[in-house]
Amino acid sequence: MSEWKLNDSNFTWLDRLKLSTFFLNPHHMWTMSTQVKKFEALMTEYIGSQHSIFVSNGSTANTLLAMYTQDCIATPEKKTVIFPSVTWITSVSPFIRLGFTPKFIDISLDDFAMDLDLLEAYLAEHHHEVALIFVTALLGRTPNIARLKNIEEKYNVRVMMDNCEAHFSTYNDKNISSYFTSTTSTYFGHLLQSVEGGFVFTNDKAEQEYFTMSRNHGMFRTLPAEEQNKYRNPLVDDRFSFYHLGNNFRNTDLHAKVGILDFARINFYTQQRLKLYEIFKDNLSEHYILPKEFKERKNVMFCLPIISTVDGLKEHIMAYCQRNHIEMRPIISGNLLRQTALKDFGDYKDYPIAELIHQYGFYIGLHPQITKKQILTFVQYLNSLV
Ligand SMILES: Cc1ncc(COP(=O)(O)O)c(C=O)c1O
Repeated sequence: MSEWKLNDSNFTWLDRLKLSTFFLNPHHMWTMSTQVKKFEALMTEYIGSQHSIFVSNGSTANTLLAMYTQDCIATPEKKTVIFPSVTWITSVSPFIRLGFTPKFIDISLDDFAMDLDLLEAYLAEHHHEVALIFVTALLGRTPNIARLKNIEEKYNVRVMMDNCEAHFSTYNDKNISSYFTSTTSTYFGHLLQSVEGGFVFTNDKAEQEYFTMSRNHGMFRTLPAEEQNKYRNPLVDDRFSFYHLGNNFRNTDLHAKVGILDFARINFYTQQRLKLYEIFKDNLSEHYILPKEFKERKNVMFCLPIISTVDGLKEHIMAYCQRNHIEMRPIISGNLLRQTALKDFGDYKDYPIAELIHQYGFYIGLHPQITKKQILTFVQYLNSLV
């Protein structure tokens, strides 16, 4: 079998030529400038959110949400942030670093997101302590957005989303990042690529101003002129006026230029990923576990999950992948509570679905360069084992 990578470069020779021209033009800035603005405007329109803030990566996008939660939502009583038991470490670590108490909720096999029955059972008793529910759209699967909206209202607790693996997924035909303040990552390994990169999406003007200042050392000078007055401090020069404790999470015009070139292919990527996953799903034996389909959710998958609870099968398939040059990864963190960095925040045995995913699951790449034939050959092999 020909090599099957986790992901491949999307970039053509023409893209490389366009990038070279961009480099060579002495009038172009390389640091954050017009290309960043253009990429943000394109993403705002595509996502259907009110505002997009392009930052250095998905992890710093999550860090901005953690900072915002600390500055604008948390109170001495509300210091808990709720996370799923399976997500990427930097969905969680920025909040813990800022002193929040993490509460992990197991995920559901229906959509690989936080189990909302377990979430509600916890909130019924503890909602007064909760600053934020931070949901992850794992592997590109769309969570139950309508129920999350309802939970937000019923318990008066903010919901935000980590959609770093779910750029193109929708709920009722609207991009999932348009519903809540959300993040995504445009790292090379993800669906849309800008080498490194990330976004915060928000529908709230005050949040947009907060995130824009926070990514740029806490200064207000990159806000539009008409929005700057309320942040002025007559004691200091506007050019170096630090309104709050920010950081440097800016991205560059070079990365934005790369992202804009890739942006042009979003529709193609979406269709290809949907088509290839469909082939995988429709042909795979029911002995393998796949998340459920719901008619209001369009799941543009990040990868192909292989999960079977037959003992020893995972190791057997992984050995086949190794021999056949098929790159593999654990399903993101596996059970997060098994990780050394998080072991003090709970007992991993209390998260049975995360355990199942951890012990029996792994994933392989899904990207537009994978062929139907590759998928069918692999699926045929998988089906022959059960
Ligand atoms: C769910 C999730 N959140 C956050 C991140 C971090 O994104 P980045 O690699 O751009 O920092 C990732 C990265 O893989 C991720 O999968």
